Amino acid sequence: MAQDQATWEYAPAPEGTGHIKLNKKYNLFIDGKWVVPSSKKYFETINPATEEVLAEIAYANEKDVDLAVKAARKAYTNVWSKMHASERAKYIYRIARLMQERAREFAVIESLDAGKTIRESRDIDIPLACNHFFYYAGWADKLEYAFPNRKVESLGVAGQIIPWNFPLLMAAWKIAPALAAGNTVVLKPSETTSLTALKLAEIIEESGLPAGVVNIVTGYGDTGAAIVNHPDVNKIAFTGSTAVGKLIQKAIAGTHKKSTLELGGKSANIIFEDAPIDQAVEGIINGIFFNQGHVCCAGSRLFVQEGVADKVIRKLKQRMESLYVGDPMDKNTDIGAINSKQQLDKINKYIQIGIEEGAEMYQPSCEIPSKGYFCAPTLFLDVAQSSVISQEEIFGPVLTIQTFRTVDEVIQKANNSPYGLAAGVWTDKGSRIFNLTTKLKAGVIWANTYNKFDPTSPFGGYKESGFGREGGMHGLSAYVKLS
Ligand code: NAI
Ligand code: MG
Repeated sequence: MAQDQATWEYAPAPEGTGHIKLNKKYNLFIDGKWVVPSSKKYFETINPATEEVLAEIAYANEKDVDLAVKAARKAYTNVWSKMHASERAKYIYRIARLMQERAREFAVIESLDAGKTIRESRDIDIPLACNHFFYYAGWADKLEYAFPNRKVESLGVAGQIIPWNFPLLMAAWKIAPALAAGNTVVLKPSETTSLTALKLAEIIEESGLPAGVVNIVTGYGDTGAAIVNHPDVNKIAFTGSTAVGKLIQKAIAGTHKKSTLELGGKSANIIFEDAPIDQAVEGIINGIFFNQGHVCCAGSRLFVQEGVADKVIRKLKQRMESLYVGDPMDKNTDIGAINSKQQLDKINKYIQIGIEEGAEMYQPSCEIPSKGYFCAPTLFLDVAQSSVISQEEIFGPVLTIQTFRTVDEVIQKANNSPYGLAAGVWTDKGSRIFNLTTKLKAGVIWANTYNKFDPTSPFGGYKESGFGREGGMHGLSAYVKLS
């Protein structure tokens, strides 16, 4: 037992913050200038690991959004849509290069503002965000090859609204393909994580991108709604909750606006008896505890085949004992801070529901910091298929576990969800992987891995997980009109 739970003590290895430059106050980035919000109102963004205020952020209202859309329209008509595609590509490429040069600063600010571990922001978020710009820079002057024998036209002004779980990466997923396809942009980051989008605005300024091609407006849900409802926006791209996605759908019904919605998930991670068990356990950990479970495609429902269930659960618990929960800036930390008090309350509410529903709960004996918003990694065993915790998106480090006997049974259980974003399949058999990829209703299916992203592969969901694809050539098609 003692050996099972053996863990190492690491000396703290905090990432420095001395090299970053944060303003006390951030204004709106409209038409290439930093503009005071017309309401003169600002709100605070905090570090969820310490509850300290990092900066004040401008609160944009309808008037500011209107200015931003007008700037984007003017830039579209006068400059961006007239520019040769290869020139547009150079700007996108330059933004990627400048981001890459300042990758360390971006990673630190992302971890401070969002609570995610420095290991993830440094090794995943920021490099992937740069890669999206590099990748789409390559497509800008090759659109006719992406869509052969079709006439390809840009849409105009894209309104883009993004969440707090991958702040800079979501900005990159949205801005890079929009620009490559020849559109201009008004983007709103989440109210809890605006800083890296504003830093990106600084880079955009430095890149010499013509004024108004990218505008960044900050604020809450009403700022987002002002973008959605603006009559001169041609396309809405949204990532966030299914509830807001539905509101957006209603708001734009009957208008000319195109839309892509990337919403919630409750993805199945399926372990067969012939899977490489140790790798699968790492895959389960990565699937649900990566980014504190703040991942729309998190592998939040685990299905284990009966013959290996005891072994997998024992190894999983053992592995969880060695997870470090705490300071996101420490390079040893595996699980950082929950993004906001509101989100922590929501996760704790679901943990309570799970207990009341009678599932067996397991949490490792890890220390949790007393200040800041933290949550221990949590398992629920023997979960009923109809239970709230196995049906609703929790968006935190909480995993439900069910067992299964046959392939048909697990397909039926995995598909019994209002969502359909992603799934993971762990098995030695290639034929079984192909069988499942055709039968699981999920936009992305990983085989013997989980949570792997690449700018060249499309990402998006079925059912209440939304529609449209981001990434790859599919991601371009969301920003063009084909005839
Ligand atoms: P949310 O959907 O409210 O926020 C996402 C973005 O939409 C933010 O920028 C927000 O300001 C904006 N927004 C809010 N109301 C709007 C409206 N009426 N019109 C236009 N824009 C609006 O998500 P929230 O409240 O931050 O998180 C709630 C839950 O959503 C989470 O607990 C999680 O379950 C889920 N979620 C899913 C994400 C995903 O990637 N699929 C990302 C973030 C949250
Ligand atoms: Mg914050």
